[in-house]
Amino acid sequence: MQKIQAAITAVGGYVPDYILTNSELEKIVDTTDEWITTRTGIKERRILKGEGLGSSDIAVEAVKELLKKRKIGAEEIDLLICATTTPDLQFPATANIISDKAGLANAFGFDINAACSGFLFALNTGAQFIETGKYKKVIVVGVDKMSSILNYEDRATCIIFGDGGGAVLLEPNSEGYGIVDSVLKSDGSGRVHLHQKAGGSVKPATVETVMNKEHFVYQEGQTVFKFAVKNMADVAAQIMERNDLTAENVAWLVPHQANKRIIAATSDRMGLPEEKVMLNIERYGNTTNGTLPLCLWEYEKQLKKGDNIVLAAFGGGFTWGATYIKWAYDTN
Ligand code: UT7
Repeated sequence: MQKIQAAITAVGGYVPDYILTNSELEKIVDTTDEWITTRTGIKERRILKGEGLGSSDIAVEAVKELLKKRKIGAEEIDLLICATTTPDLQFPATANIISDKAGLANAFGFDINAACSGFLFALNTGAQFIETGKYKKVIVVGVDKMSSILNYEDRATCIIFGDGGGAVLLEPNSEGYGIVDSVLKSDGSGRVHLHQKAGGSVKPATVETVMNKEHFVYQEGQTVFKFAVKNMADVAAQIMERNDLTAENVAWLVPHQANKRIIAATSDRMGLPEEKVMLNIERYGNTTNGTLPLCLWEYEKQLKKGDNIVLAAFGGGFTWGATYIKWAYDTN
């Protein structure tokens, strides 16, 4: 009997309406459209404006779209896993808030924090619940409101990130479609190069931490860049090798959208031409956990049943990984 695989059967996504362009950023920090474009590939990013709105509000839109597309009721969902670095609250989990707001009355939920690799790790976690046969419908969300932890006086970080997120539905498949293989890695010694200094149990929030701007993203860009280029390409190559994937039989690379140059290094290593690489960094920047599902959301119509797809990510932690999926459906 063919084993049960976890297949993505629907995708939803959402980005806020407000567009923060490079030229607007030129007025806020000492930067230029030319610098941002050539160094990162980003032209604009979305920002969630409005009092009292958080990551869950982005995710709820994605989840609702997914349910509508799959024509299923919210009460049919067994589990919702949310990958986020910007939870609504320190606790409870944002997954629970999303489930409440979207009416997932029968689902349990929890969050995963693996920075920019969070969606990939959550996808693989969700897949386990399907593969065991225990659950039939699992939603995996990747979402971030990065604007909530950005210092808009720091030109090295505020130009990179944006807000947005997406969601996928996982269901059992016994015909060979779905998640086939993964390489997932983390190395905690990399934490010094990319983190948020205060607000956790080591350094709880005080007036001083706020004054010192320690609740924002801290990143040593060049160091992170070097690790990202090497590690993301390494795992992508590894997943190809051990699954007999070639530049010809891979239909798409779905890369984390952190920097166009990191993406190019990965696709070059895989030998893939540009037209096989999903890209939306120009319009959304780095939405951290949101990048991969947002790519799937935007390219969904171009995906065909049986397509070999490689997802790859690198992020704070350090965390990184690659996942090979045999796509399970034609959109029409
Ligand atoms: O998604 C999570 C993982 N994160 C990543 O993968 C990000 C990896 N890192 C990067 O993508 C890049 O390192 C950055 C885009 C963050 C920075 O690009 P870079 O080419 O590594 O620039 P740099 O940090 O080496 O800085 C080069 C110069 C510096 O000036 P000096 O010292 O050469 O005079 C910076 O001060 O560019 C300056 N600079 C800027 N200039 C204009 C830094 N940020 C800016 C800016 N506008 N926004």
